[in-house]
Amino acid sequence: MKISFYNGEFKEDEELRVMYQDRAFYFGDGVYEVIRYYDGEFFTLKGHLDRLMNSMSEIEIDGVERTELLDIVTELKERNTIENGALYIQVSRGIQNRNHAYPVDVKPVVLAYINEARRPHSQSEHGVHVITNEDYRWLKCHVKSLNLLANVMEKERAVKAGAHETVMHRDGVVTEGSSTNVFIVRNGILKTHPADNLILNGITRQEVLRIAGELDVPVEEAGFSVEEMMDAEEVIITSTTQEVTPVVKVDDTIIGNGQRGMVTRRIQRVFDANIHKLNLVK
Ligand code: PDD
Repeated sequence: MKISFYNGEFKEDEELRVMYQDRAFYFGDGVYEVIRYYDGEFFTLKGHLDRLMNSMSEIEIDGVERTELLDIVTELKERNTIENGALYIQVSRGIQNRNHAYPVDVKPVVLAYINEARRPHSQSEHGVHVITNEDYRWLKCHVKSLNLLANVMEKERAVKAGAHETVMHRDGVVTEGSSTNVFIVRNGILKTHPADNLILNGITRQEVLRIAGELDVPVEEAGFSVEEMMDAEEVIITSTTQEVTPVVKVDDTIIGNGQRGMVTRRIQRVFDANIHKLNLVK
């Protein structure tokens, strides 16, 4: 039996009814996280909770304590029998008849549930194809907001093109994927867009940067162009669910020799070891 959480209550998922006046529906007025756990243990939980608190503060939702969120995710995991899961948690501004201005005297509403999740082994090994398109999103992409219309449309563009992801660019500078961060390896340097307002500072992105540091791979958090990406030795996309995925084709251009590159492999090895709590680097 699957147990989920909404508005202060744990319930059987099938019985859970969400309120249509939840501002998450009308306005996408809320923020969220997707948190992975492997063999019953949360992965990078602290980073996700920190970012959730930060997203709330960015959109001026208050009244939810970090300890409350920690208790909810911990209890939710315990109440379900899923060993390997992706936990979704969102906080909306509250429940109120539709009115643009922030409501007064309402409490934020937390929704959380778990889906079983498998590791993306095949794509981690063989890589994926991506397409490119202009980034036409708003200028607060660092907030993990529920407003994902552009992201959804861009993922669908990829699906229709038979690709895995759309990599977006602003004025020719690569920002991120519709639900992933993007890295390239060019002249041996691992490059990714700086963590400013134009991208979500992925928890997996931060892990990859940390691992690269441990492995003495030179890193530059700097913008790069679509042309540089096409001409890169390696391209990688990362996220909580996609982990560290090599990109072997961008639009019609094959990357490197069309196979997962060496830097990607080295990072994946440590990432994997971290999941299994082995220490490969030191
Ligand atoms: N998406 N950029 C965007 C726009 C994202 O939506 C995500 C994650 C990432 C990667 O962030 P992280 O490494 O913290 O998962 C980057 C989640 C998984 C989702 O919406 O399902």
